[in-house]
Amino acid sequence: MASSPSFSGLRAILIVTLVLAGAIVLLLMYYTPLLSAICRPPPVYSRWQLKRSNSSAVTDKPVVLLWFWPEKKSFDLQDCKKLFNIDSCHLTDDRSMYSRAEAVLIFHRAISDDLSNLPTSPRPRFQRWIWFNMDPPTNTRKIEGIQGLFNLTLSYRKDADIHIRWKLTAKKKPAEDFVLPKKERLLCWIVDNNDVNTTAVGKYSYYKELIKYIKVDVLYNSSAESFKGEDYFQMISSCKFFLSFEDSIHKDYITETFSGPLAVGTVPIVLGPPRHNYEDFVPGTSFIHVNDFPDAVKLADLIIRLDEDNEAYMQYFNWRRFYTVTRHLTEENYEFALPICQACHYVHMNKEYRAVPDLYKWFL
Ligand SMILES: *[C@@H]1O[C@H](CO)[C@@H](O)[C@H](O)[C@H]1NC(C)=O
Ligand SMILES: *[C@@H]1O[C@H](CO)[C@@H](O)[C@H](O)[C@H]1NC(C)=O
Ligand SMILES: *[C@@H]1O[C@H](CO)[C@@H](O)[C@H](O)[C@H]1NC(C)=O
Repeated sequence: MASSPSFSGLRAILIVTLVLAGAIVLLLMYYTPLLSAICRPPPVYSRWQLKRSNSSAVTDKPVVLLWFWPEKKSFDLQDCKKLFNIDSCHLTDDRSMYSRAEAVLIFHRAISDDLSNLPTSPRPRFQRWIWFNMDPPTNTRKIEGIQGLFNLTLSYRKDADIHIRWKLTAKKKPAEDFVLPKKERLLCWIVDNNDVNTTAVGKYSYYKELIKYIKVDVLYNSSAESFKGEDYFQMISSCKFFLSFEDSIHKDYITETFSGPLAVGTVPIVLGPPRHNYEDFVPGTSFIHVNDFPDAVKLADLIIRLDEDNEAYMQYFNWRRFYTVTRHLTEENYEFALPICQACHYVHMNKEYRAVPDLYKWFL
């Protein structure tokens, strides 16, 4: 009997322990989901929130926020569909969308020196910043403190993540459908009024040399109104040859001064990166490179010879059996439409994590 009190004591302890344990298990079961919900990281993509907030305005397309309008040249962002058939993201310039944007497109030239006009709210985990710069290194301001900010690069450079360029499209099958436009001039050039007497830039000194041997029809850009849209292409197409001289010489820096004439059936005479760089983008028989000649006299000789020999001249259009070139947009407000729309397309197609380690080391 002596063990009886201690036995009932033990039983009491056992019951209390069981009740306590049960209570703790219940408590844990109740609170665990709450706790883990608090600890769980936010969803990588915030699309579902968009759907809930306004299902008609935003679908499940990624939001791409254009932080600055480049040079205030704005257009209706819906036009990406009309112009390039790109409709795969929700493009917006509404900064209140920042926290939902999967990508923020930041135009380099518009960034202030003290960086005060960049987004200041914390960057969501899923968000990528795109460095948007169509200028060559000589025209790119070195802004301190932005080197480590970006995840993607957008440039004319072939090794940029988003590489912007007018396109040469292969035809499905070779076609002899090219008709040479009516030619009224031999050799043309478009320049800015004030620049033509500058000899500091290589292209002007070459021009000065060239005009000693051949006439160049110079069209001044100051009467810029006449160089918009159809008139611009019409004018270039009336010339047999066009001086496609780049302002500065950098790898891959081949601009509309080249693609414009190429598109309309005029032979570009190029001054820019080496011939092989042009050949990365177009057939080598589609243009004439100034470096193919020891001097301007020899180049002038060839142009004069080709003017008299139509058969030889037409050889420069043989590539058109296989390819077509799209004309660039000449409307002022569409100047940056292609890069902006391309960025949209890229963000939709590519989701990978990436950071640009040292922007200037790569670009400058
Ligand atoms: C949703 O978006 C549409 C179109 O942008 C707008 O007209 C409507 O007011 C929005 N609705 C809500 C609840 O925000
Ligand atoms: C450039 O210089 C030449 C003479 O050197 C002059 O005749 C011509 O008008 C100048 N052109 C411009 C646009 O200033
Ligand atoms: C973007 O780049 C920043 C800075 O390098 C980095 O901290 C961030 O994790 C990157 N985000 C993504 C989604 O790649």
